[in-house]
Amino acid sequence: MILVTGGAGFIGANFVLDWLSVGDESVLNVDKLTYAGNLSTLKSLQGNEKHTFAQVDICDRAALDKLFAEYRPRAVVHFAAESHVDRSIDGPADFVQTNVVGTFTLLEAARAYWTTLPEAEKAVFRFLAVSTDEVFGSLGPQDPQFSETTPYAPNSPYSATKAASDHLVRAYHHTYGLPTLTTNCSNNYGPYHFPEKLIPLMITNALAGKSLPIYGDGQNVRDWLYVTDHCSAIRRVLESGKPGEVYNVGGWNEKTNLDVVHTLCDLLDDLKPKADGSYRDQMTFIKDRPGHDRRYAIDARKLERELGWKPAETFETGLRKTVQWYLDNQPWVDDVTSGEYRKWVGQHYA
Ligand code: NAD
Ligand code: DAU
Repeated sequence: MILVTGGAGFIGANFVLDWLSVGDESVLNVDKLTYAGNLSTLKSLQGNEKHTFAQVDICDRAALDKLFAEYRPRAVVHFAAESHVDRSIDGPADFVQTNVVGTFTLLEAARAYWTTLPEAEKAVFRFLAVSTDEVFGSLGPQDPQFSETTPYAPNSPYSATKAASDHLVRAYHHTYGLPTLTTNCSNNYGPYHFPEKLIPLMITNALAGKSLPIYGDGQNVRDWLYVTDHCSAIRRVLESGKPGEVYNVGGWNEKTNLDVVHTLCDLLDDLKPKADGSYRDQMTFIKDRPGHDRRYAIDARKLERELGWKPAETFETGLRKTVQWYLDNQPWVDDVTSGEYRKWVGQHYA
């Protein structure tokens, strides 16, 4: 079996659902269930004996040791993190705790377990860390995309803690020989995306008749990837990636935030027209995010060249599917937008 951390969050849950739909191998899903973790995303796995859920904090070494000893995974896929840049600006402490101390604790538990394995199992064991393009900092309009050798220059507390996590993973390979793999991916979007991030926030606000808050001038660029394409990239790297290597994952879809919001409004105008006017009428420009990175762009050629991976969705097909998913799954949105979530949104956009 494989041990997945953060498998009740957006990408982790998509990964678990995808993994169990394409193969036979079991998953031990380890998640603390913070505000971002939702078991309702995994409802379809109820009664599925190939999925075991453990509500555990990755900072809890004793609990992790117990899980490794009991389940004996052949690989770890590490998603668990505090992941929202705006929250890291408001309160960085949880980010240092989970993203740095948590990764360190998980690495220590994995290393202790790995050391006890027979040689053959030791050789095939993998620790895959899921990371972000934000560790590379911000690009100018003419700069080449981030490659695997771009120097790290994280700008937010979130990206600084993810960079620290990446460095620890690298060090555990270099120093102890732990067979690690790291993926650095661009912005994901798709089903089960928590509605505090740009795309789901815009869809849910649009449908609720609320304003669509665009930071600054809306010209910041992100490189978007449909979430199941990220999942297939992780599977590929886990299967055939070379220990110690880093792989960039991206969708070749650079868009300004304004382009994204316009496209979302147009899709909603088409799929769920308002009585009068366009969803674009709800757009509002608001105060910029402090230290807001201007542009991210990923060069994913290494993954294509060495492991034969390519995204299946274009931005247009992926975004249409996403909007349709939110239209069809309002109960999921209502379920995850808890009191704590509403409190944060109230403070942040006040
Ligand atoms: P998310 O915030 O939706 O989910 C994070 C999950 O981790 C939640 O289920 C949460 O309960 C769990 N978690 C948090 N702290 C924990 C702890 N201490 N112990 C155990 N579980 C804990 O995040 P996401 O968007 O799904 O991102 C998953 C991973 O992918 C993160 O490592 C993130 O940095 C990385 N990533 C995200 C994106 C993106 O666009 N969302 C892009 C590239 C990389
Ligand atoms: O690049 C990968 C990263 O993408 C991941 O590592 C992070 O975990 C993930 O949250 C995401 O970070 P971003 O900061 O790029 O995503 P977010 O959805 O918060 O914002 C996307 C862009 O939209 C960014 O330029 C800020 C802008 N934005 C965001 C919100 C929430 C707005 O203009 N208005 C908003 O209300």
